[in-house]
Amino acid sequence: MKKLVFAANWKLHKNPHETRDFLNSFKQKIENENLGSQNLEIIYFIPATNLESASQILASKQSNIRFGSQNCCAKATGAFTGEISAATVKDLGGQYVLVGHSERRTLFGEKDSLIAEKGVLVQGLGLTPMLCVGESLAEREQGQTEQVVLHQLEAFLTKINLSFPFMIAYEPVWAIGTGKVASLEQVDAVHNFIRKTLIERFKVPNAEQLPILYGGSVKADNASELIRLKNVNGFLVGGASLEVESFLKICLSFQV
Ligand code: PGA
Repeated sequence: MKKLVFAANWKLHKNPHETRDFLNSFKQKIENENLGSQNLEIIYFIPATNLESASQILASKQSNIRFGSQNCCAKATGAFTGEISAATVKDLGGQYVLVGHSERRTLFGEKDSLIAEKGVLVQGLGLTPMLCVGESLAEREQGQTEQVVLHQLEAFLTKINLSFPFMIAYEPVWAIGTGKVASLEQVDAVHNFIRKTLIERFKVPNAEQLPILYGGSVKADNASELIRLKNVNGFLVGGASLEVESFLKICLSFQV
């Protein structure tokens, strides 16, 4: 049975009050579902200002619903005005940090080297980084998808500890927030490429089990086909994670 991971990326949406209401409602609904022995994990990447609210609702360590931040500072502490401390994410009960999202890369100028530094810091604290990789439309049209993804993977994997937990999210930039989901063939090809790269090139321990998520305009109605692809372990969901019902349907898409 492959491991399934469904992650919500709320970006700059919802306040602490809305976060508590949403998570309470979602938690109740998912607990009513019969998930049996399914190896399934749900992760909320929420605004850092709402982490404490999430920790109030998702305090149980036994729960398969976890949370984390969408970014963190590459440095542990110091004079870094406005940054997010990964140690504080941990202190609040967060277990994950999203690193290298394309919006961080393009809007905030984050480079591969900085993203790798964040990954190292996050792992050092015992948290799990989820690295986002993906090509732009121009790069895809020029046939550079594998080259771009490989470069992003290499910059990260040569720095972090491959024996410590981490996850990968493949998000083609042109599919994020555009309603243009990548085709099954496109997703299948890149996920197979990433799995092969983890196994053969980087010799990642347990690479066969390492979660590789797809992201980019995932909705309840395209999730059930995508989740059947061998090397798709789940999704990183933006827009459709902002409503309880639509995200719940995505988390249950493997049953359809
Ligand atoms: P989207 O966002 O689902 O709204 O396309 C995905 C993401 O940015 O992680």
